[in-house]
Amino acid sequence: MADGRINAEQIEYWNERGGPQWVQLQERLDAQIGPLGLVALEQAAAQPGESVLDVGCGCGHTALALAEQVGPRGSVTGIDISRPMLGRARERQQEQQLQNLTFLPADAQTHQFEPASVDLIFSRFGVMFFEDAAQAFGNLRTALRPGGRLCFLCWQELRKNDWVRVPLQAAAQHVPLPPRPEPGAPGPFSLADPARVRAILDTAGFRNVRCQSHETDMSVGGATGVDGAVAFLLTIGPVAALLRESDADTRSRVAESIRAALLPYADGNSVCLSSATWVVQAEVQP
Ligand SMILES: C[S@@+](CC[C@H](N)C(=O)[O-])C[C@H]1O[C@@H](n2cnc3c(N)ncnc32)[C@H](O)[C@@H]1O
Repeated sequence: MADGRINAEQIEYWNERGGPQWVQLQERLDAQIGPLGLVALEQAAAQPGESVLDVGCGCGHTALALAEQVGPRGSVTGIDISRPMLGRARERQQEQQLQNLTFLPADAQTHQFEPASVDLIFSRFGVMFFEDAAQAFGNLRTALRPGGRLCFLCWQELRKNDWVRVPLQAAAQHVPLPPRPEPGAPGPFSLADPARVRAILDTAGFRNVRCQSHETDMSVGGATGVDGAVAFLLTIGPVAALLRESDADTRSRVAESIRAALLPYADGNSVCLSSATWVVQAEVQP
């Protein structure tokens, strides 16, 4: 599907590989990143009656929470390029019988939003994958009403996120690490530099940009025990991507090394390593 369209690589990835994995591991992923998302949801402070856009809403965890918060007088739209993830989100919506929530299969960078129709744009880790972040945030801004606000959660740099740095280093004993991505290239760490975030949001027409640091231990894969955490890391995320072409022998040696590297962090059923995120907030002119 990588055919020259805007965000073609990401559209392919989130429909063919990443998306199905996120659906398969949805409960574990929500257990892992749910507590981080809650911090951002608290800052976003969606109010009853508000209209909210959840960008890169994936399997719908935060969109469901926002729909509860805004209540029957409010509305939430979850936008995402991943059809499998939106499929899971719709299932959950039906289970919870939320009428004020819709899911939109579209690219947030280019979709023509109804101008000035939204009070709050929210995202949990769904805004780091744009080919052109300035264009994407400029486009998103058009959806906000005067005085509307933006609140999203993104990762800080890799070296502050041991939950991914430690297993990657363990894997690197057996497989070469890929070259460092260009600064700002689409990917989990593309918005790690607050100076870049401010520049992008200023250009996109937001004001009063704040990046609030949140550092806490995070339970890898939720509470799965060490073997569960190793299996989780080998299935999804940067380590799994590293091993895509590896044979069974290499995979099992990597698994052994990751297990040894995680053991010092194991406590009961949890394997907790440091995480560092930014809660980014901004507004448009009232
Ligand atoms: C790391 S996942 C996070 C999913 C969800 N927000 C969560 O926290 O569970 C990133 C999400 O962003 C979506 N995404 C990536 N680029 C996008 C774009 N240009 N427009 C809309 N969604 C996009 C992906 O399909 C994926 O669902």
